[in-house]
Amino acid sequence: MGFDLVVCGRAFVGGRIKYSEIGVEDGRISAVRGSLSGGERRIDVPGGVILPGFVDPHVHFRDPGMTEKEDFPSGTMAAVHGGVTCVLDMPNTVPPVTDISTLMEKKARVKGRAHTDYGLFAAVTPGCNAGTMAPLVPGFKLFMGSTTGRILLNDDAEIAPALQGIFRAGKRVSVHAEDDGMILKGREDDCRCHLRNRPVEAEVNALRRLSRFKGMRVNICHNTNAESVALAKELGFTTEVTLHHLFLDPDRLTTAEYKVNPPLRNAAVREGLYAAFIDGRISMFGSDHAPHTLSDKSQDFDSAPSGIPGVETTIPIVMGMVRRDVIPLAQAVSMGSETPAASFGMRKGRIEEGYDADLSVFDMRACTEIDVRRLHSKAGHSPYGGWEAVFPETVIVRGEIQIDGREFCGDRIGEDAYAGD
Ligand code: NCD
Ligand code: ZN
Ligand code: ZN
Ligand code: ZN
Repeated sequence: MGFDLVVCGRAFVGGRIKYSEIGVEDGRISAVRGSLSGGERRIDVPGGVILPGFVDPHVHFRDPGMTEKEDFPSGTMAAVHGGVTCVLDMPNTVPPVTDISTLMEKKARVKGRAHTDYGLFAAVTPGCNAGTMAPLVPGFKLFMGSTTGRILLNDDAEIAPALQGIFRAGKRVSVHAEDDGMILKGREDDCRCHLRNRPVEAEVNALRRLSRFKGMRVNICHNTNAESVALAKELGFTTEVTLHHLFLDPDRLTTAEYKVNPPLRNAAVREGLYAAFIDGRISMFGSDHAPHTLSDKSQDFDSAPSGIPGVETTIPIVMGMVRRDVIPLAQAVSMGSETPAASFGMRKGRIEEGYDADLSVFDMRACTEIDVRRLHSKAGHSPYGGWEAVFPETVIVRGEIQIDGREFCGDRIGEDAYAGD
């Protein structure tokens, strides 16, 4: 057989770990068996476990327009070091992606500069022509609460027809669900004021207003509380969670570095979210990687921008949790890989014939502490310095080896997963 590559080792296939030989042809998995002969190149993974490459359904790579914070090369370099083989980038770049021409300009700009595969979201705007853009995007992003980028749309009379058009075109809408009318605008000195200004109720109310779209393709981003998760589930929506909303405490981490939308919640709310996560009630991890430079973040709290980076650290920290038996490996793979890929209609996220040959190999014995100076985002800061993590040994994107021995050895081979051809 004409395999370009055969990857051999213990792999997560069909819901469990078993020794497998994975044959790759033209960037796709063309066979998964107990043994395969042939192959121009064979890679043996004796110590590790081979997982489907991770898909981060929510990143902000700032390209074009704010490339001092991040750009496509730096953002995808960070992603691939963290085991992520595909990122879905949000439309609050400059100019915002609100129509076919800004979308095509952004596509032309990032082409040939990515180290992972990617998709580019378009924004939901009142007149947005969903039909034309649908085949070219993973989905559409609705901002119901103000945050970085000012593409706010919080009027039900405008949201309804826009969303109907998107659902008719067969696409999913990812929602920043905070009701802007319930966000207080008073001056803020620290993360506690930020939390007071942006209460849990603003999030729950945004979701209530979406209940008319029950059963439609809606994804609720960065859920911070169990009530939102329960309501979203009842409505048949998918849900994302970030590690910062699960774990970071705004009473201890008060400075602008930890300013984020929705805000970090108090302990009782975080515990409820954590219980929902452990119970498997949340669909996927989404890092909401929102890089801002240290100088952006060192302004006074009220003027500093909101957002926390996380694309490189999310999966390694999750793998650390798998190692400590906090969650089963199957849950990490479903939340990090299978479900985001399936929710956004990609042939990725599973080690199975016909799927893209995106693989991340982890050696669960190789547990390290995160060293912020060694991360690759231009942000240059992270809340997770010193946290226990397992970084991938090898990362393969459509059959191309991008990371080997935990170091980058690849090229800018990332492709648009929604090129439309
Ligand atoms: C994000 C950003 O900086 O782009 N900021 C944030 O606080 N999460 C935007 C967003 O997802 O709200
Ligand atoms: Zn958001
Ligand atoms: Zn975001
Ligand atoms: Zn490196």
